[in-house]
Amino acid sequence: MGDVSPVVNRRVLLKAAGVVATLTVVAGCSSRGESSPATEVDIEQIRAAADAAVAAGEVPVGGAAFLEDVKAVVTQPTAGDYKVFSDVCHHANGRVSRVDPDTGDLVCVLHGSVFDPATGAVKAGPSPRGLDSLAPTATPSPA
Ligand code: FES
Repeated sequence: MGDVSPVVNRRVLLKAAGVVATLTVVAGCSSRGESSPATEVDIEQIRAAADAAVAAGEVPVGGAAFLEDVKAVVTQPTAGDYKVFSDVCHHANGRVSRVDPDTGDLVCVLHGSVFDPATGAVKAGPSPRGLDSLAPTATPSPA
């Protein structure tokens, strides 16, 4: 009780709403109009896991929390600005599972691709594209 500020909760909830909207679009493209109950479960799992990680203070500024069970990573590149990405690397489906301690960049340890923690963009390595964003880039204003 009292361990999570209302600002953080509101921000996480709004970000989570963006996760649902983003993944719904992705699911629509990949399933060609057919709904996928499994995807809906995944979206809820990602939202719950991201919310829990932020609420528990597991996402430090300049760091990340790796949500292995839902294949996602939550970053906080600047104070109060949370981003959620798929942790699946587009090179060979490796998992992004490390933060470079010198730069704060996300790293796929399989072949060393490096990703920007604020945008998911590739900064180095063989990945042909960045990490899939699971949240809007705009930061909602706290009430
Ligand atoms: S699978 Fe990520 S760099 Fe190869």
